[in-house]
Amino acid sequence: MNLHHTSERLLSTSVLVIGTGGAGLRASIELAQRGVQVLAVGKRRKHDAHTTLAAGGINAALGTMDPEDSWQQHAADTLRESYFLADPSIVETVARNAARGIADLEQWGMPFAREEDGRISQRFFGAHKYRRTAYAGDYTGLEIQRTLMRRAAELNVPIIDTVYITRLLVADGTIFGAYGFDIVDGTPVQIHADAVILAAGGHTRIWRHTSSRRDENTGDSFRLAALAGARIRDAELVQFHPSGLLEPDDAAGTLVSEAARGEGGILTNALGQRFMERYDPARMELSTRDRVALAAFTEVAEGRGTEKGGVYLDVSHLARETILEKLPRVYRTLIDLQMVDITTTKMEIAPTAHYSMGGVWVAPEDHSTGVNGLFAIGEASSGLHGANRLGGNSLIELLVYGRITGEHVAAYVGSRTEISRDPAAVELARTEMQSLLRENGTESVRRLQRELRNLMTEHAGVVRTEQGLQEGLDKLAALEERAQNVTAHPDIAGFDDLAHAYDLLGSLLAARATLECALERRETRGAHNRADFPAMDPSLKGNFIWSPAEGVSFEALPPAPDSFRALAETTADDSVAGKLLE
Ligand code: FUM
Repeated sequence: MNLHHTSERLLSTSVLVIGTGGAGLRASIELAQRGVQVLAVGKRRKHDAHTTLAAGGINAALGTMDPEDSWQQHAADTLRESYFLADPSIVETVARNAARGIADLEQWGMPFAREEDGRISQRFFGAHKYRRTAYAGDYTGLEIQRTLMRRAAELNVPIIDTVYITRLLVADGTIFGAYGFDIVDGTPVQIHADAVILAAGGHTRIWRHTSSRRDENTGDSFRLAALAGARIRDAELVQFHPSGLLEPDDAAGTLVSEAARGEGGILTNALGQRFMERYDPARMELSTRDRVALAAFTEVAEGRGTEKGGVYLDVSHLARETILEKLPRVYRTLIDLQMVDITTTKMEIAPTAHYSMGGVWVAPEDHSTGVNGLFAIGEASSGLHGANRLGGNSLIELLVYGRITGEHVAAYVGSRTEISRDPAAVELARTEMQSLLRENGTESVRRLQRELRNLMTEHAGVVRTEQGLQEGLDKLAALEERAQNVTAHPDIAGFDDLAHAYDLLGSLLAARATLECALERRETRGAHNRADFPAMDPSLKGNFIWSPAEGVSFEALPPAPDSFRALAETTADDSVAGKLLE
């Protein structure tokens, strides 16, 4: 199939938002409210963006259940649990503005769970000092997406959810738009824009067990940003959520929300031992995600796991009504996928790649990227989570920075007086697309995607070593070579295969960034466990930055402000003792 048949569509807008999940929608709403022309595009149906999978809740120190809570404590918990790798200014901005994010949602009709007297209910999530996670059952992300979609519709925000963006267009270091194609009919699309907000998610689909579905979180943001001249931060810091389903194979890694532990779920190994007693006796199942994930991994590695390679999570001691009210999605998912009734039967789970804590490097004030006119938000960005993300912080981040970035981008486009465009940038994007549609390629996209996922699972999983990472890089080089010979095969159904080919390119780039940074982080910190360097190295309290041209460099972090630094340090327990049980 040849794209020469189809004439190119030219669109023009003031701001282009790439990604129609929560972050992209929140930024679009802010721009529209300010009267700025905005166009949001995405590669998935907008009602089904990855945000809809976010389950257990969204954080803000509202103090509805625990009045002692404060934004400073939220910031301290976030910084401490990041193992002090989060950018303190980003942490402060999110914690300070979190209540406003919730108020915006309330105003737009978000159906939060409430106490009988009307207060927003807040539940415990792992490693939070207080109950500060607001929720809507375990469908919080779905309700947020619906709420934002409604608000965007009220404001007539144009959304095209069939456009795959393949390249950002840059002239003299300044963004002037993006290039892509329509996934349904293959029409190439050139979009002129004065600014681009990248909100196209992370890269956790490149592991075999993952809470991302097929074709989402494939590293698109990493590639788009890096090829435009931006840099990637903390690529190696990937959150493995402790509880992903093991079966069925084609849904391996599907999330069992942390809410299951928050509501009182118990973890046991195949011997019936409540194993968190050995890893974090004080916090038990509500320990940090990195610790619980590593504990489950270790139980299996040391032969105390189930035959299928998992451990058990049990909520069957809870009242049936509590399960149906607080964990409706977990209940339904287990029935749908395994015909298991969790009100009577325990679940078999194992760690699953869940969240890219790293992403595009952004400035704390406005999430600009260092490339004029390019901004990144949501999971595509970095800086809030460091080496271990607190559950519930990603949803609040997208509300806070969606708004703030929207506000700054409105000012940025308002100040532009002239636009440069570069036909060579457009031609490069065109040629690249043609080359992926050539007739004579011999490699299949799906096969290479699978091999990449196997590689990352084997060499860059929960526990890593120098030798394993190096072997991973060698295998990656071979896959990159083979990817030169890939052909996409659009058919009567549409151009999905071309989208998959670009997904593959994004995934390969994201894998390289991850492996190269993981090799350099010769320590164990948070989610990054190096069996060959089991201690934390204080000299590595900073971020690894990556770009295709420059490779890896190290960036130190500024100190946290007094308002929450002491609080974070007083309660800090960063010890790795007993953590890495090999
Ligand atoms: O387990 C969960 O419900 C996930 C929440 C999160 O990743 O923030």
